[in-house]
Amino acid sequence: MDHRVLSRLAAPAVAALLALTTGCTGETVQGRPGASGVRDPFFPKAGNGGYQVEHYSLDLDYDPADGQLHATAVITARAEQGLSSFNLDLSGLEVEGVSVQGEGARFNRTGNELTVRPAEDLERGEVFRTEVDYSGRPKAVTDPDGSEEGWIVTPGGKGAVGVGEPVGSMAWFPGNHHPSDKATYDITVTVPRGYEAVSNGELRSRTEEGDGRTAFAWHSAEPMASYLATVAVGKFEVTTGRTASGIPVYTAVSPGEAAASEPVLARLPEMVEWGIGRFGPYPFSATGAIVLPAHSLGYALETQTRPVFPGAPGSEELVLHELAHQWFGDSVSPKSWKDMWLNEGFATYAEWLWSEDHGGPSAQQHFDAYVAGDTRVDGEAGSDWGAFPPAAPRNPKEISASPVYGRGAMVLQRVRQEVGDAKFFALVRGWAADHRHGNASTADFTAYAEEKTGRDLTEVWDVWLYGKDRPKAPKAPKDAKASAAP
Ligand code: TRP
Ligand code: ZN
Repeated sequence: MDHRVLSRLAAPAVAALLALTTGCTGETVQGRPGASGVRDPFFPKAGNGGYQVEHYSLDLDYDPADGQLHATAVITARAEQGLSSFNLDLSGLEVEGVSVQGEGARFNRTGNELTVRPAEDLERGEVFRTEVDYSGRPKAVTDPDGSEEGWIVTPGGKGAVGVGEPVGSMAWFPGNHHPSDKATYDITVTVPRGYEAVSNGELRSRTEEGDGRTAFAWHSAEPMASYLATVAVGKFEVTTGRTASGIPVYTAVSPGEAAASEPVLARLPEMVEWGIGRFGPYPFSATGAIVLPAHSLGYALETQTRPVFPGAPGSEELVLHELAHQWFGDSVSPKSWKDMWLNEGFATYAEWLWSEDHGGPSAQQHFDAYVAGDTRVDGEAGSDWGAFPPAAPRNPKEISASPVYGRGAMVLQRVRQEVGDAKFFALVRGWAADHRHGNASTADFTAYAEEKTGRDLTEVWDVWLYGKDRPKAPKAPKDAKASAAP
C-alpha cells in the first residue's frame, strides 16, 4: 500500500503538539482527542472513545520458524465526534507507520495505547480509513486471573494461536478492543507452504503465492467483538461439510488430536440444529472448530463461528458450551465485562438443556444438584457458586469464576420455575432475536425478561442475580392459581 508516513515522534513532542493545536484560534479546529478507554468497570483502558469501527481488514504474514509477524491493519471507522486524535489498543510490536485517509499520520505509544493524530481533523459522522503497518514477535498477555491469551506459540513450536478474551487481541492487531464495538472482518493470513491458517468465518480463497507461501483469506460477514477474533497457524487436518439446514462446517484439527476429537466433533452439526430449535436461527454464516495441539491453552474459547479447543474436547458438553456462546456472547455480546454472566450463565444453562433433551439430568436436576452440592449429577455442583452474585463480580479476576457460570445458569432456571416453559423459551429466543449481532447489559436482560413474560421477577434478581449471600434453597415452583390469588 502506497502512503506517506511521518516519522515517529517522541511522546513529549506529540503532547506539545496536541496542546498547541487545542489552544489555537478555533476556526479550523473541529476535533478533540478521543478517549483512551470506554471506562469498562474492570478494564477501563480497553476500547477507545470517539469512533466505532465498521470493518477490520487484517493482513498477517506469520513465520512459525522465528515467530515474526509482518502485518497491515486497515481499519474503517465512523467518527462519533470531531476528532483531532484517536486511540487504538495495541500491546508490544513495532509500529512502522500509520496513515489516515491515505495521508501519513503522527503517532505515539504509551502502554497499550497507540495514539494517532491525522493530518486533518476528522468530522463527526465521517467514515475514515486508518492503515497501520506493524511487525515483531507478538506475545502472550496474562489476565488478572492468571490465564494467558494474546498470541500463544503452541507446544512443539510449530504453530501459534491468537485469542482475545478479555483483552488479548491487542497483542496481535491494533483495534478498538472492547466488546461494545463490533465490526466485520477480513483476515488474510500468509504462512509457509505446508501450514494451515484458520480464522473466523468463511474461507474466501487459498492462494499459493509462488514464493513458498500460502495465503488464506477469511471473511466474517457478521459483526464480531474483537475478543472473538482468532487465527490459528499450524498443521491441521481440515474437514468441511454442512449441517442439515445447510450451514457450512469447517473444522481444523491438530493431527495428534484427531482420533480423540472425532466422536465429539462428529456431533457438532447436530448440535447446531439443536441450538436452532432451542434458541432460534443460527446467527452466523459458518460454523466449525479449531482443535490445537494438547495443552496449547488453559481453556476453550468461543471464537466466533469457530471455537478453539486446547486439545481434543474432553466432553460433548464442552463443545455444546462453546457452540451455545455463538448465540449468547458472540451474537448477543456483553456491553461490559461485568455482564459476563450473560455469556457464561446462558452457555452453562445450554449444557443443562442439552442434557435434558438427550436423556441426561434435566435442567431442574442440575439446579438441585448445585443446591445440594451433588457432584454425582453435575461435576461442577461442588464449586463455590455462592461466593458472589453473578451480576456483580468484585474484580476482574472473578469474571470467569464459578458463580458467573453455575449461579448464572441457576438464575435462568429460577426464571423458568417462575414463568413456566412456554414463556421461558419464548424469552430465551426473543432475547437472542432482539439483540442479534448487538450488545446487551444485565439491566437490559432483567427489563426484557419482565416485559416479555409479564411477571415481576424482583425476587429472582434480588436473591439469585444480585444477592450477596449464597441462596439457601429455591422457593418451591409456584402454583399459578396460588400466585394469582390476592
Ligand atoms: N469464555 C471461555 C469459555 O466459556 C472461558 C474463558 C477463557 C474466559 N478466557 C476467559 C472467560 C477470560 C472470561 C475471561 O469457554
Ligand atoms: Zn463459556
